[in-house]
Amino acid sequence: MAQVEATNNQQPATNNQQKIKSICCIGAGYVGGPTMAVMAQRNPDIKVTVVDLNKQRIADWNDADLSKLPIFEPGLDQVVEEARGRNLFFSTEVDQAIQEAEMIFISVNTPTKTYGKGKGMAADLKYIELCARQIAEVATTDKIIVEKSTLPVKTAQAIKSILDHTGNGVKFQILSNPEFLAEGTAMTDLANPDRVLIGGEQTLEGKKAIQALVDVYATWVAKSQILTTNIWSSELSKLVANAFLAQRVSSINAISELCEATEANVEEVAKAIGMDSRIGPKFLKASVGFGGSCFQKDILNLVYIAKSLGLNQVADYWEQVILMNNHQRNRFANNIVSTLYNTVSGKKIAFLGWAFKKDTNDTRESAAIYVADRLMDERAQITVYDPKVTATQMQGDINYLNTRSESENKQYLETETDPYKALEGAHAIAVLTEWDEFKTYNWQTIYNNMSKPAFVFDGRNVLDKVELEKIGFIVQSIGK
Ligand code: UDX
Ligand code: ADP
Repeated sequence: MAQVEATNNQQPATNNQQKIKSICCIGAGYVGGPTMAVMAQRNPDIKVTVVDLNKQRIADWNDADLSKLPIFEPGLDQVVEEARGRNLFFSTEVDQAIQEAEMIFISVNTPTKTYGKGKGMAADLKYIELCARQIAEVATTDKIIVEKSTLPVKTAQAIKSILDHTGNGVKFQILSNPEFLAEGTAMTDLANPDRVLIGGEQTLEGKKAIQALVDVYATWVAKSQILTTNIWSSELSKLVANAFLAQRVSSINAISELCEATEANVEEVAKAIGMDSRIGPKFLKASVGFGGSCFQKDILNLVYIAKSLGLNQVADYWEQVILMNNHQRNRFANNIVSTLYNTVSGKKIAFLGWAFKKDTNDTRESAAIYVADRLMDERAQITVYDPKVTATQMQGDINYLNTRSESENKQYLETETDPYKALEGAHAIAVLTEWDEFKTYNWQTIYNNMSKPAFVFDGRNVLDKVELEKIGFIVQSIGK
């Protein structure tokens, strides 16, 4: 293993810049893994070590068989293959990696709190705090700490306070460098980011730390696309970017309901408004509702912060984005029940897709979970096919909602690894993820093997409605 010497390498005063040689990232998840893989690929002279407490996760990152990487992301395997063992390492030796590194990225999970003050709204910062304490305990040389996880505004202050008051007298600079990658397109997002945002203290030392991180990115990102701000602007921008994106989805979803009640078609409306250059065409796809680890969490954070500051109108305004999303998921599930003659009890309903979007195995906050839960309340028999999500993951997701016992969940929710088997004998098909392969199926065969009338509820507007109706399906799409 090539060892890159780890020193706190302050350059001579003439240059007054720190050239980073050793990076550690705490958290080998959907953000830490791909981000560090690209950073290592583009900086072969920097040793990048990604650490995690989860031994299995690290073993999977180190697996010689690249199809076993713990997260599925198109193109990730090639980048890992190129850099792993050269200057990219995955390890459970957290202390050692912290000690060696000049720059430490914190990329641990920050779920919404499920207890106490801010329950259901505020971010749970216990994993961040544990990281900060561990760094404080272990570090013996000066470090630059980089917040990568999505965090509420002013988290840097909390991290700094822990580091400064419990440390060994070493100096820490805290930077905020929010991640804007979207799952499924993470590798291209990382390779060609719209922008890289780096926030830091506006002191001499803070600016030096910002520059050190700018230099790491500048090996592949144009300097004009690297924005530097104060730390609070950077933290807030991440929440606001996600809130604006989610707001577009809720806005078009609100219009989808209006379209269904009129003769309008939401795709035509989206195209017509998206051609206005002030509006733009992206994030106007009506769907069963947005999911993913960020949108809901970040908006709830924004709402919580606004409420804490007494800004109730601001809080209510953003909360509506979440309420609309919940409504869209419920509306989709309720429509299945009412269309199937007001009862789905004992009826087989086949789900195509469980992931929160295509090209990822991530299921966090996926609309599929909530639609399934609602239909299971009605005692539907659900069978799911998803090309990348395991049965264990699906059961874990539905158990997490705590609506019914684990054995009942097993009874009502099954998984099939063959899509044709999943759809056989079904009364209805619900499309919950827009996987491309769904379009390539032999829909005539599927129709022949279903209960009649054969319904399709396309929650992603991914199938060809006209073609399916020619075969004999009764198709309901979103907003049409
Ligand atoms: C998002 C942000 O895009 C990214 O910048 C941030 O770093 C993390 O959060 P991600 O959650 O991975 O990324 O996926 P994204 O592509 O934003 O989709 C989020 C959800 O919205 C998905 O469930 C997707 O299906 C849904 N969506 C998106 C729509 O329903 N319609 C759209 O037009 C776009
Ligand atoms: P994200 O989407 O933000 O990357 P994930 O849940 O996929 O979130 O990844 C976060 C990772 O951080 C998990 O693998 C978890 O085990 C790891 N983690 C959490 N706390 C610590 C810690 N104190 N030290 C090391 N790893 C941690």
